[in-house]
Amino acid sequence: MKVPLLDLKPQYHSLKKELDDAILRVAESQYFILGPEVENMEKEFCDYLHCKHAIGVSSGTDALLLALMAIDIGPGDEVIVPTYSFFATAGVVSRLNATPVLTDIDPVTFNIDPEDVKKKITKKTKAIMPVHLYGQSAEMEPIMKVARENNIKVIEDAAQAIGTQYKDGKCVGTIGDIGCFSFFPSKNLGGYGDGGLVTTNNDELAYMLRIKRVHGGEQKYYHKVIGGNFRIDALQAAVLRVKLPHLDKWSEKRRSNAEYYYELFKKEGLAEEPGKTKFDDENQVLLPEAIYKSEIRNQKSEIRNYHIYNQFIIRTQKRDELKKFLTENEIGNEIYYPVPFHMQECFANLNHKKGDFPESERASETSLAIPIYPELSNEQQVFVVQKIKEFIQR
Ligand SMILES: Cc1ncc(COP(=O)(O)O)c(C=O)c1O
Repeated sequence: MKVPLLDLKPQYHSLKKELDDAILRVAESQYFILGPEVENMEKEFCDYLHCKHAIGVSSGTDALLLALMAIDIGPGDEVIVPTYSFFATAGVVSRLNATPVLTDIDPVTFNIDPEDVKKKITKKTKAIMPVHLYGQSAEMEPIMKVARENNIKVIEDAAQAIGTQYKDGKCVGTIGDIGCFSFFPSKNLGGYGDGGLVTTNNDELAYMLRIKRVHGGEQKYYHKVIGGNFRIDALQAAVLRVKLPHLDKWSEKRRSNAEYYYELFKKEGLAEEPGKTKFDDENQVLLPEAIYKSEIRNQKSEIRNYHIYNQFIIRTQKRDELKKFLTENEIGNEIYYPVPFHMQECFANLNHKKGDFPESERASETSLAIPIYPELSNEQQVFVVQKIKEFIQR
């Protein structure tokens, strides 16, 4: 049995007519960049996320870059980021000639460690960028508190987390000053190419984001400030508008797939208790924290943290061999991320060394994403867990 890490075809076929019509509607209009399709999409995202402003942009990376430009990050400024994330989180800071100041992660959630954030604040700190990695909210309360006390902006990297809720039920991306989303095709809500979104409840920031999206002017060829081309295509907006009403259903399916994995791993005697971060036994697999239980799912008001499982990550001491074994058995898998920022060649100037961020390093050495997409069948999940069992016990 073949089990891809992600298969987008079933989703396309389930919405083929609507998607094809939307694409043709843009072709008929011959209006390709921004315009009514994008404006309607932005209104729909404001409703979905419960925020005042949503601004469509060219990618998740550009959302982060534009957010930092909107708060005037530049040379001499420090921006606190986790060392364990997708490259763009730190890359955009360096592109503006500011300094990414790295922190370790919480090993249970893989997200930025708020205690480490506090230690890294200096007079030069202008922003903190928590990442809601794999679709799970970072611990926002202490981050917002320390940011407000020190007059520091919070830019949320919610690229993997559209629809994720923090413990108070607020959508991530609407808690800090600016939220940044990606519509890269593999995200829970993916476009047909690159796309992204920035969100804010602050009118002045929204103004800056809007003008810096189009080279810094309200009016063509008159530039108030330096901006860039961060525009989103109408085609992407049209596709996203068809998909958005289905997003919650898809994320719920990912959550029930996650629940089924927990059940299967437990039944097979393979898993340590969810949430454990240290291996007692090398023949065990560590699962992500079971932050939701059936009781919680049924009581909306008590949702602590609504994980949308953009990725389902297992951890094992034999990660590299398991990766090879799963690949040989045609089971899709991926390492997110094999090298933390402090060990990347391009960040040698930050003067870090192996050992500086032990939890991030451990996560890089032991984690592996396995298939979790909504259309994954129970049979495929049983097969994945059986194969992992075969590997671990051989
Ligand atoms: C955490 C994180 N930040 C930023 C990005 C950048 O998004 P994009 O690929 O749309 O530029 C991604 C996308 O993979 C991501 O996962």
